[in-house]
Amino acid sequence: MWEEEPMRNAARALALVTLTALLTACDVGLPAGRTPHREGNYLDMIDQPKLKPQRKDIFNGRPTGLMEPQLGSVALGETPYPYAQNEADRAGAELVNPLQPTPEVVAHGRFVFENVCITCHGPKGAGDGHVTALFPKPPSLMTQKVRDWPDGQLFHRPMRGQNSMPSHARQVDARDAWSAVLYIREMQKVEPVAKGGK
Ligand code: HEC
Repeated sequence: MWEEEPMRNAARALALVTLTALLTACDVGLPAGRTPHREGNYLDMIDQPKLKPQRKDIFNGRPTGLMEPQLGSVALGETPYPYAQNEADRAGAELVNPLQPTPEVVAHGRFVFENVCITCHGPKGAGDGHVTALFPKPPSLMTQKVRDWPDGQLFHRPMRGQNSMPSHARQVDARDAWSAVLYIREMQKVEPVAKGGK
């Protein structure tokens, strides 16, 4: 009986040594990045040369592995905006606001304006948004000039941008922008005419 304990310890030690030897011999490929890529070792797939979206494109030397859509691709259900940036007049003459200023539409326009445009244009469109301390101050949207613009011309600015105002076509879709135009029209009814504009 008293001899059994040392025997068991010896067996345990032997088992441990064998297991360690086995594990070292069969390379499980971890930790990642330490072992060179070997055919057939699935754990080493992490080390293979491959495209990563946020890394340099190692195959074609482009700055990023992000795959841009083919030129001219159109997202499902999207209608491409046909006017170039300098075609505001044509957009104004040809485009018709497809929305009516119902309370729902105006409320949505207000939501868009107060989430996207307000940072620069200010709560009443006066051009006094929070970022104007650092960012170029936009002109007021309450000027007679903007009041006289047809809806299409007003719609054109967020779609294409103008000078220091970037295009907002990635943040707002056509329905958002048309609603924002109607909300701006509602503000123009109650706000005084601002100086400026040509
Ligand atoms: C990052 C700041 C910024 C945001 C956000 C922004 N704008 Fe502008 N916007 C400007 C600036 C700056 C100008 C003046 C550009 C210039 O110098 O012609 C401008 C000009 C305009 C004009 C033309 C005004 C004029 O008298 O020429 C319209 C209309 C307009 N923005 C609408 C919008 C609408 C609608 C939104 C929201 C969907 C929006 N903007 C969001 C900065 C912004």
